[in-house]
Amino acid sequence: MSWKTLPASENSDKTLNSLRTIIDSFTVQPNERKKPIRLHLGDPSVGGVLKPCPIAVEALHEAIDSHSSDVYESSVGTLSSREAVVAKFSNSDAPFTADDVVMTSGCSHALQMTIEALSGKGDNILVPHPGFPLYATLCRPHGIEDRAYKIDMSTGDRIDLPHLETLIDESTKALIINNPGNPTGGVFEKEHLQEILEIANRHRLVVIADEIYGDLVFNGAEFHSLTSLSPKVPIIKCDGISKRWMVPGWRLGWLIVYDCHGVLSEVKKGIVALSQKIVGPCALVQKALPKILKETSDEYFSQTREIIQNNSRIIGESLRKINGLTPMTPRGAMYMMIAVDKSAYGSDVTFCQKIVEEESVFCLPGQAFFAPAKLLIWPGKFLAKFRKYGDNSHRWMWVDEAPERDLPTRCSFRFVGFVRRRPKQEPRFVAFKRAESVFEQTCVGKCASSLANKSNECFFLPFLAIILPGKAINQRLPNGGSPPFFGHKHLVP
Ligand SMILES: Cc1ncc(COP(=O)(O)O)c(C=O)c1O
Repeated sequence: MSWKTLPASENSDKTLNSLRTIIDSFTVQPNERKKPIRLHLGDPSVGGVLKPCPIAVEALHEAIDSHSSDVYESSVGTLSSREAVVAKFSNSDAPFTADDVVMTSGCSHALQMTIEALSGKGDNILVPHPGFPLYATLCRPHGIEDRAYKIDMSTGDRIDLPHLETLIDESTKALIINNPGNPTGGVFEKEHLQEILEIANRHRLVVIADEIYGDLVFNGAEFHSLTSLSPKVPIIKCDGISKRWMVPGWRLGWLIVYDCHGVLSEVKKGIVALSQKIVGPCALVQKALPKILKETSDEYFSQTREIIQNNSRIIGESLRKINGLTPMTPRGAMYMMIAVDKSAYGSDVTFCQKIVEEESVFCLPGQAFFAPAKLLIWPGKFLAKFRKYGDNSHRWMWVDEAPERDLPTRCSFRFVGFVRRRPKQEPRFVAFKRAESVFEQTCVGKCASSLANKSNECFFLPFLAIILPGKAINQRLPNGGSPPFFGHKHLVP
């Protein structure tokens, strides 16, 4: 008898991540002449600009050297790590103890256990659209419906609450609130959060608060944890060190059960049972956690906020100049959504494929987040690209190290950006737009003067990027017609 290919189990078969499905369906190859620029990974550590928190690195070294964490620990997590979570996050509005905390392998695992402990086949959970696709991935294999409520995409920071309320029925087991939001970059105002809590209270709904981005907010936004608003509803808050401490690979998260009415005791037992499947997350990182949560400086967090805010502003300003692309201004998390005019570029998927094919630039189509006609890019990486490919000592820099002989053709259909930042000053962005064969002279002038001071720090804007040597390029442009970008003229107003 011969061996036959075995079918995957029904459970694994039903486990689909829409992000992966859409990315895998890309049939195009990157342009081999251009180095890839990856703006599609929500991993703050990629690129090396947003560095892992140094205290975290030190604490992990100490944990390894101590050899006290080489053992199996409790499946709900070590007492010291749970107490560290209490010390950092418990507040008088919604106090909790170490018994209410379960340590997990990343925030994803916290979400998984929460969803599985609260609901089962035939139930539904309310999830945001656009939203993080993992919620659907976690629900569907168990026959739990991920029922979508709408985020208002004119701002990204309000839920359509009347619509949300129409979705609730007797099988609705929980409402997931992701704040700050992935991918919208929206941050909910305090009053809006209170309205959400009122609805949850009226319908006796447990709230799952995905607050993994926490106070990673900027552009004037303020973060309010749902638990800081004297909630009258039970809340299970999912969090971790992946994003604010920049160590997603360490896979440490936690969930906190705020059981204000004492209605979650059975669910808590369920969570404990589920935690036994993998006997808790990595003991070493748990050992390091008390130091990480206690000693990370405020400066570390404010630097991160500053970098992401600056990059989002620079990118927003530049993309706004391109016909058919409308970037949203994020106020939190690390993403930017950009509306794509279908009549100019086709669908968001087409846009993403083309930009990979032509420019080796990777973005994510909004469809992966249930938001068609939007793109997602991650501003954090823009600095990374500069450091990697830029050359501070050179007057003009090439993000993708293009050979000079390519210049005339390449510049004729590329949007170009340049940013220079003086210490303690706002970065300046200078954009060149090609209108037939003429670059905007004022922009060229500004760029030239900002380039003069070589000691300053420079940042590139590598979305469709190379840096052009202004007037010199101008003279070398081909005379007639402009090679269109993506076969469209819309980038060349
Ligand atoms: C909204 C949201 N929740 C949860 C997670 C998962 O976090 P972790 O890496 O800690 O599992 C992510 C990761 O991108 C996210 O964007």
